[in-house]
Amino acid sequence: MEATTITKQGAATAPYYLPQSDECSVFAAAHQNGLPVLLKGPTGCGKTRFVAHMAEKLGRKLYTVACHDDLAAADLIGRYLLKGGETVWVDGPLTRAVREGAICYLDEVVEARKDVTVVLHPLTDDRRTLPIDRTGEELVATPGFMLVASYNPGYQNILKTLKPSTRQRFLSLEFDFPAPELEVDIVTQESKLDRETVKSLVRLAGKLRALKGQDLEEGVSTRLVVYAATLIAQGMSVQRAVQTAMIEPLTDDDDVKRGLQDLVVVVFG
Ligand SMILES: Nc1ncnc2c1ncn2[C@@H]1O[C@H](COP(=O)(O)OP(=O)(O)OP(=O)(O)O)[C@@H](O)[C@H]1O
Ligand SMILES: [Mg+2]
Repeated sequence: MEATTITKQGAATAPYYLPQSDECSVFAAAHQNGLPVLLKGPTGCGKTRFVAHMAEKLGRKLYTVACHDDLAAADLIGRYLLKGGETVWVDGPLTRAVREGAICYLDEVVEARKDVTVVLHPLTDDRRTLPIDRTGEELVATPGFMLVASYNPGYQNILKTLKPSTRQRFLSLEFDFPAPELEVDIVTQESKLDRETVKSLVRLAGKLRALKGQDLEEGVSTRLVVYAATLIAQGMSVQRAVQTAMIEPLTDDDDVKRGLQDLVVVVFG
């Protein structure tokens, strides 16, 4: 397999991503060796941004597929379509990535149907092949091809878990919300809000996350903290921004909302 290095140009143009740990070097090593990677972590903690950043840094095109329970193998692989009276074969995003040596990112892979995960098996072991039944082709992945999948272990139900035979084909990286100092950097960078106010928002986020499993199903995501900060930076009052971006999205229960508003008062006075 060709050596892949972080390109100078890619490093300069990559979407902003602040590493939490050594995930960038693990991902680069996986890419260099053609190994698939599974990203696990709660919603809005930076998984998609990380993949976009790494693809650019490694100089690879990125194909992203949002998986859902109607997604069929043909949506990934391709299908015959009628075009001007002729039937022509059109590659799906996975096939394109395999041919071009690109990165294919399957978001929320546990949502996908079983026939989809089966397609991934020969691609994620040392065969690195993609059989296309409809055309009779068996593609060997072009060097540089990498399969990345993500899922949120939090709201996954027992029936929607990956089979061990699928999971054990991927290296796994665990993601979580960034440590407070890092989250302050991220939110400041993304929203351009003043650092002091961002610090308070991040403190509030920490208090809200502590309620996960008791009053809240999921803690507030970094994405929502960025939303709140963006609204405040544009002139919305802290109270209103926090309400729409950090409280309403978390719960529909009025009692719980009142409890969360008390935390806002604790942090912002
Ligand atoms: N480490 C980070 N560096 C830069 N931005 C980050 C980081 N972590 C989170 N963010 C910010 O949080 C937002 C949400 O992140 P992202 O969309 O990557 O979440 P996700 O983990 O893919 O969520 P989901 O599981 O819902 O798809 C990003 O748009 C970015 O603003
Ligand atoms: Mg995502």
